[in-house]
Amino acid sequence: MSRVPQIVGNWKMYKTAAAAREFIAALQPLIAPVCARVCLAVPFTALEAAVAAAKGTGIRIGAQNMHDQNEGAFTGEISACMLQESGVSFVLLGHSERRQYFAETNSFIHRKVQRALEARLIPILCIGEQFQERERGDQKKVLQMQLEECLQEIFPDEASRIIIAYEPVWAIGTGKTATPGIAQEMHQFIRNWLGKRFGSESAGKMSLLYGGSVKPDNIAELMVQTDIDGALVGGASLNVESFAQIVNY
Ligand code: PGA
Repeated sequence: MSRVPQIVGNWKMYKTAAAAREFIAALQPLIAPVCARVCLAVPFTALEAAVAAAKGTGIRIGAQNMHDQNEGAFTGEISACMLQESGVSFVLLGHSERRQYFAETNSFIHRKVQRALEARLIPILCIGEQFQERERGDQKKVLQMQLEECLQEIFPDEASRIIIAYEPVWAIGTGKTATPGIAQEMHQFIRNWLGKRFGSESAGKMSLLYGGSVKPDNIAELMVQTDIDGALVGGASLNVESFAQIVNY
């Protein structure tokens, strides 16, 4: 299976445009020539600067969110075509912080996935269970519902353009990483679900990322797992040295 390993930094609400330029310039010499595909999800206001700074480096720039409509009276929102125009290649959708603090639902996220695909952006769909759901043993049920609802009406050829990020909510920003065994078990569950829904050929092409307290010292043991193709990295992506170490795992 030839899935390219990819490491995606999620800067959340950190870094100005100037800081983004500085980070990208400093990152480039630190990353080994043969390494994972490197992606950075940056704040809206840093997109233009980051796209310009990353030009010719192979580093891909993306956004952290977008709206589910292409235009309209939605004060403060940004659409897929606006992102496309700014030169980004991907967008994070349904991050647990969006679900938790901004009440995003699976059906809203589903419409965003459709808009992103129409605009030729790669959606990185984030899913994952909360701590209480895992305690009750409901983690797979929760993932299944998120996948069913967020990927409704998606065709197999479109599905192969989607990246899924499994991020257990209890592992995000807490320093608690899922053990490689737990992460692999959940990724395998996701891949099997995708295989049943879209066929094994499309499912085999889809990249599945793990996210939640990924650090330089745990990336290697995660990346050797069969169904883990990369990582979505929050806190450790803010520091150029630690992010480079993760990329060069
Ligand atoms: P973390 O965040 O690496 O700081 O846990 C991951 C994420 O929110 O995508």
